[in-house]
Amino acid sequence: MSGNSVQFDYRPNSTPVPVAEREALLASPGFGRVFTDHMAVINYTEGQGWHDARIEARAPIQVDPASAVLHYAQEVFEGMKAYQSGNGAVLFRPDANARRFNGSASRLSMPDLPEALFLESVRRLVDVDRAWVPSQPGGSLYLRPFMFANEVFLGVKPSAEYLYMVIASPVGSYFKGAGGPVSVWISQNDTRAAMGGTGAAKCGGNYAASLRAQAEAIRNGCDQTLFLDATERRWVEELGGMNIFFVFEDGSLSTPPLDGTILPGITRDSLITIARAQGMTVREEAYSIDQWKSDAASGRLRETFACGTAAVVAPIGRVASPEGSFTIGNPEVGGEVTMRLRAALVDIQLGNAPDPYGWVQRVF
Ligand code: PLP
Ligand code: COI
Repeated sequence: MSGNSVQFDYRPNSTPVPVAEREALLASPGFGRVFTDHMAVINYTEGQGWHDARIEARAPIQVDPASAVLHYAQEVFEGMKAYQSGNGAVLFRPDANARRFNGSASRLSMPDLPEALFLESVRRLVDVDRAWVPSQPGGSLYLRPFMFANEVFLGVKPSAEYLYMVIASPVGSYFKGAGGPVSVWISQNDTRAAMGGTGAAKCGGNYAASLRAQAEAIRNGCDQTLFLDATERRWVEELGGMNIFFVFEDGSLSTPPLDGTILPGITRDSLITIARAQGMTVREEAYSIDQWKSDAASGRLRETFACGTAAVVAPIGRVASPEGSFTIGNPEVGGEVTMRLRAALVDIQLGNAPDPYGWVQRVF
């Protein structure tokens, strides 16, 4: 199957969630616990390539206990959203997700999925499950394309079989609370990624490695973990599931550079573009934890925010570690630049502002 001749078999769910139940679920979906009626599936077999593309009823799958993914974590995924826009739904930069998916796959020795197949699988699923796209403000249909090694073999080598799937989940806000600033915990012992590792790939293993630090963050009353670089434990890298930006008193922005250890966020890239178009200076440069602390104290640093598909743009109001904590700006409300950039991004995503970059793609 090539990307140019995308044939998806459609096998409708014969027992979809009843309308009243779906409406009740959509009223308050939270994040990642409610799922739609269908999923996209494509098989890969060495020698044959991608085959048997289909949209079918979402259901548990059978995986052999010796399936490679269960032992060696050869798995990659994406996170993207469909938004209600006008009477239909749109995707935001899905081509960027398709490219990053293949970048992640390449790092984990997995096969390339033709971009047309990735895009079509996502579009078809959103189209079939269109009744699940939330219409309330702040709601969206979170899409989770993923691929895993499925060869039944315990030898350590790239698998000869893979399963690619897309599931969809109506979501509200990622963070509990009313969208006010979140707090971050600086992991002292655990790092997320080192040079030459898998930090720039969106693979499940990175998140597994982040969980102990994330649990520590929660124990210490913080929302998210912030990781420092693995070599010097000095440079701010990113959060467990978000990139980070700093806003300075002169109106400029900075964000850590894509040096191979952090995920190249599509929200990050979009915000850099939007900020520069608004006339702001944006630097991609290393920023140390000590500098951050002293800039927050002196007032040189005005705001800090996290960004990602799930989190959108979330102001960071407090930074804590075993050595103590410091606050940024007004820890109760998001800073002005943060909220302005968030609004500019969301307005493009929802079709409330012009889309000069061609980022938004209509599904129906
Ligand atoms: N960094 C990590 C580790 C993430 O998991 C995510 C979320 O996908 C991001 C950054 C932000 O990436 P994006 O803006 O493409 O969602
Ligand atoms: C996303 O933003 O899509 C992610 O994958 C991050 C995760 C914390 C949900």
